[in-house]
Amino acid sequence: PVDVPFHNADDTDYSLPQNRQWIRKTIDAARGVAIADIPLVIAGKEEAGASQTIGRDPSRPGVDAYRHALAGPEQVERALQAAVSARTSWQALGYEGRAELLRKVAAEVANARGEATATMMLDGGKAVTESDGEISEAIDFANYYARGFSAAGFDDGAEFEPFGTVLVTPPWNFPFAIPLGSVLAALIGGNTVIFKPAPETVLTGWVMINCLWRAGIPKDVLQFVPCPDNEIGRSLVTDDRIGAVILTGAYETARMFLDWKPSLRLFAETSGKNSLVVTAAADPDQAVKDLVKSAFGHAGQKCSAASLGIIEAEVYDNPGFRKQLKDAASSLRVAGSWNLDSIVTPVIREPGAELERALTSLEPGEEWLLEPKMVDGNPCLWSPGIKLGVDPQGWYRRTECFGPVLGLIRANDVKHAIRIQNDSNFALTGGISSLDDREIDLWREKVEVGNAYINRPITGAIVQRQPFGGWKRSCFGPGSKAGGPNYCQLFGTWTNAGLPQ
Ligand code: SER
Repeated sequence: PVDVPFHNADDTDYSLPQNRQWIRKTIDAARGVAIADIPLVIAGKEEAGASQTIGRDPSRPGVDAYRHALAGPEQVERALQAAVSARTSWQALGYEGRAELLRKVAAEVANARGEATATMMLDGGKAVTESDGEISEAIDFANYYARGFSAAGFDDGAEFEPFGTVLVTPPWNFPFAIPLGSVLAALIGGNTVIFKPAPETVLTGWVMINCLWRAGIPKDVLQFVPCPDNEIGRSLVTDDRIGAVILTGAYETARMFLDWKPSLRLFAETSGKNSLVVTAAADPDQAVKDLVKSAFGHAGQKCSAASLGIIEAEVYDNPGFRKQLKDAASSLRVAGSWNLDSIVTPVIREPGAELERALTSLEPGEEWLLEPKMVDGNPCLWSPGIKLGVDPQGWYRRTECFGPVLGLIRANDVKHAIRIQNDSNFALTGGISSLDDREIDLWREKVEVGNAYINRPITGAIVQRQPFGGWKRSCFGPGSKAGGPNYCQLFGTWTNAGLPQ
């Protein structure tokens, strides 16, 4: 209920031996199980796909981790028909009935914490603490969306008309929390949902959606439809029975969806090229810690990750600061996600052209403060890299590379640093490290990012306290933030049907 205070769920404390033993056992059990083929679930029934493909574990290259089904055109058509048929009963359940199910989802996810953590470690190559944090965020989304919606204004008699059916196409880098939040935000308002998991992390999507079904969300209201990203995926995105699409992914993907269908109602959180400004008034220990966490957590593959540090000259030129930053990054454990001590885990697949360029070459004027190296002969596993001398106009500054690389830009002063930070088409996250209130006030006034962080890492948004969303080319749609008070209301229209005429 809305009048009960909201609390964020606690992460597991993996410094405690009993928690390490518990997750170790869960992981060993998960690794020992031969994972059966993952089916489609259409109109409430499991079925084989028109085709099948392999799921991989980035920590064990060459190993086929599992198999999953892919839908064909006829199956997509049946899923769409079922999604339309299921609307009436789902809407008739009413807001309170649906909110009750969301609260049950929170409980199911909490029960599944171990299994889901182990799954993300396998499927997404995520470190144990990163995977565990997603479970907490997922619980938060469920509890928060269960309560926030009714408070928003039913009382004036206006009625909320859902769009009908929402297609959710989430990312692989947050394969549990982001899809769960997107699905529930669409469901609570009365939409039915077709869930198309990210192709790289179908197993996590399967574990996630099973939590929702176990909580009582009907399988025809929420269908599981992995399908290929070709004309089959296109037919799903562009079908008129899809009232809206929630995408978390690349800017180019969002553009492509809109090219396919200019009238598409698209709600997307897209690419970033995020930076953290460090001024001469920063606490250097805090700045180093925040840079390292923001740049190298999940191997730099968060859309919120810092790939740039914009450093005021006095700090940039200080050999002590450079050494501290280099030492901090070098001390991070680089290993497969199965190692509980690993901080820098593998990237999701062998680096593509852009990440390879960022990891293995220097642009004019750049030099390595810390050169990245491939580790354990795994082409997905790279130690952290830090580049000095990044050109504020150059290729690296403009390109989202999605890997464990941090580039440093020298700024003359704070105003210069803010100008460089804002000089981007993208505007997802950004931060400042400074203990000077006047600098912080100036920065707050000028900075152009969706999520602005002061003296903390620029990753790790928190439901209710720091909702998440972008600006400029990092966002499509009105920009209400996930985990914030207006998010669920994006997926429908307020009508005056309930008002006296
Ligand atoms: N919500 C994540 C973060 O804040 C990014 O998607 O890091």
